[in-house]
Amino acid sequence: MKIVLFSANEAETAQAITALDPAFTVTSVAGPITAEIVDSYTDADVISGFAGCDFSAAILSRLPKLRFIAIRATGFDSVDLDYCRAHGIQVSNVPVYGDSTVAEHAFGLLLALSRSTVPCAEATRRGDFAYTPARGFELRGKIFGAIGTGHIGRRAIEMAHGFGMSVIAYDEYPSPLLRDAPNVRYAPLDELLAQADIISLHVPATPETDGMIGESQFARMKRGAVLINTARGQVVDNAALLRALESGYLAAAGLDVLPDESLLRHPAALFAPDTPAAPATMRDVLAARVLASLPNVIVTPHNAYNTAEAFRRITETTAANIKAFAQGNPINLVT
Ligand code: NAI
Repeated sequence: MKIVLFSANEAETAQAITALDPAFTVTSVAGPITAEIVDSYTDADVISGFAGCDFSAAILSRLPKLRFIAIRATGFDSVDLDYCRAHGIQVSNVPVYGDSTVAEHAFGLLLALSRSTVPCAEATRRGDFAYTPARGFELRGKIFGAIGTGHIGRRAIEMAHGFGMSVIAYDEYPSPLLRDAPNVRYAPLDELLAQADIISLHVPATPETDGMIGESQFARMKRGAVLINTARGQVVDNAALLRALESGYLAAAGLDVLPDESLLRHPAALFAPDTPAAPATMRDVLAARVLASLPNVIVTPHNAYNTAEAFRRITETTAANIKAFAQGNPINLVT
């Protein structure tokens, strides 16, 4: 079985999968799968990549032998599942690998914003040790609004409690695990938006969550609220976010995810003759660049998942997913 691992800079993943079966031929490609390189892998039976890999029909249709995609992530919004269904390609993900990892990053962004850690550290790096005028705010006593109370959202709620915050939660399927939890109450989205001091997003990217936080949601937020997004870029309308920040209505934002991340990484693709970029895409990319330049915004490049512990779990589960597929009993399938 020919297996191609994309975005595989490190040796561990290839080693773990090669060790499964001597009949496996494993190829590691440092970068993501793209239109430019996909034709070099037409003999692949199995491909694997991180959340940002482009598994669109345009790419997948150029892999005639493909039978299985092992996503090395929880979110599978980058995969054209309709195409996969129609062509008998099975898809697996890593359902749980880093709830603490991602929730800790959400709080890392929040603490860096609440105490202006980035400009303070930049000043001392320049040799400027003067007392800083950056007055922060405490988390204790504030209201934490968790949108999405699955694995990561629940861990973030636990952390919010550790900081002495009370919690309002919103989820279309409230978790029974929080039913008896003290200091958490579920509320409709509008109520959460109106009351929370900090709003942290933990929902997947789906057609329903696309643009879930837009102009009218920002207008409902408390003046001075802070938004943290470690979920997916498309959950937030970033042009509306930009307006909310520039008007001073929203105090700050911490963003690990942005729409069109692959174009932010490879902006030259915006100007490729065979893929003319839509105006909406141009707008997203420009909004992301402006957001990243604002002093009250911190952007990290989709790095919330990236700890040694989470990476180990991703590798182990991906190897198990490929092994189970090869044995005819696939696990962790997404539909
Ligand atoms: P999960 O599946 O355990 O929880 C998601 C929750 O969102 C569920 O409780 C679900 O009921 C809720 N939900 C779904 N659609 C909703 C809607 N329309 N309205 C309200 N609630 C809705 O997922 P988990 O593990 O907590 O991860 C959440 C998301 O975090 C992932 O889907 C992924 O997009 C993102 N993520 C980001 C990472 C990063 O590195 N930035 C790493 C890992 C995940």
